[in-house]
Amino acid sequence: MSKDLRSRPHTPIVHATAPGKAILCGEHAVVYGHPAIALPIMAAAARATIRAASRQGITIKLPDINQRLRGHRSAKHPLIVLAGRTLDHINVAAPHLDIMLQSTIPIASGMGSGAALGAALVRGLATFYGRPLDPATVSTLVYELERFFHGTPSGIDNTVVSYAQPIWYRRDKGGSSPHLEALQIGAPFGFIIGDTGVRSPTRMTVAGVRERWTADLRTYERHFDQIGQLTSAARDALSLGDTIRLGHILNENHAVLEQIGVSSPELNRLVGAAREAGALGAKLSGGGAGGIMLAVVGPDHALAVSEALRRADAARVIHTSLEPSPEGLVPLGSHE
Ligand code: PMV
Repeated sequence: MSKDLRSRPHTPIVHATAPGKAILCGEHAVVYGHPAIALPIMAAAARATIRAASRQGITIKLPDINQRLRGHRSAKHPLIVLAGRTLDHINVAAPHLDIMLQSTIPIASGMGSGAALGAALVRGLATFYGRPLDPATVSTLVYELERFFHGTPSGIDNTVVSYAQPIWYRRDKGGSSPHLEALQIGAPFGFIIGDTGVRSPTRMTVAGVRERWTADLRTYERHFDQIGQLTSAARDALSLGDTIRLGHILNENHAVLEQIGVSSPELNRLVGAAREAGALGAKLSGGGAGGIMLAVVGPDHALAVSEALRRADAARVIHTSLEPSPEGLVPLGSHE
């Protein structure tokens, strides 16, 4: 096949999306080799629109933050670099591309906004040239973008947004292929996410934890072990459909996250408000020091919890649920 032909788009315009995500249990400890559980959040998503352009090269427009990027091989911006790597992967040599990236995922809030933008971009490009990629390949490509934004990412964000389903995740210490499992869900679970509205780059909280870990290895290893055990217990609670037990686990996980110094007054306020309004349990979710918290709720208290979060100044409240499925592959429904 000639390069020209290979560079020809398959369809004139393509839209691709990727969901946001929330970590149910295991953040921070996952960076140190412990397991974590993450859920895709369909109510907040990134979207890529890909069109053929008349001039050669790649233009990426980010209307949400009023930015326009241009370039191809020599480019430095991580989104252009990711586009270039994806095109190399699918063997497109001379792209003429006009790309728009938009997102309803709050930035720097623990919802995987960077990874979701990357996954939408990679999927959109692959579909545009008629060469869809499997989730593992999308995830591997997006991991490089995560490294730029996060420094030492565990890989959980790129994985959950690329697979778009709830996952049990453990990073591979050698760095090649992580251990990944679909979760068994024994009964429906309802969750409410509250956004503090405080932006907190994950790179900073991860670096802070690393500094404290280096200064006091014994204490931090103990905290990470405890989080690992809570994450395993959360997996059992999900498979048994035990919402009460899951609530206790989330509360305990939040307490350990406070001890490792990644909570904040705003997060504690929302977590407290959710518990007082009848949530079965609540914790911060993601990097912490701002960003989001997550509560597990029974159907009778969902409304009271979301109202309490709004009264406690949540910038945004998102309802999401996990439904049982016979195969153990779980579709996730969400609404705002
Ligand atoms: O992107 P965030 O803020 O949800 O953080 C991801 C979870 C961490 O464990 C804090 C970092 C990582 O790379 O796993």
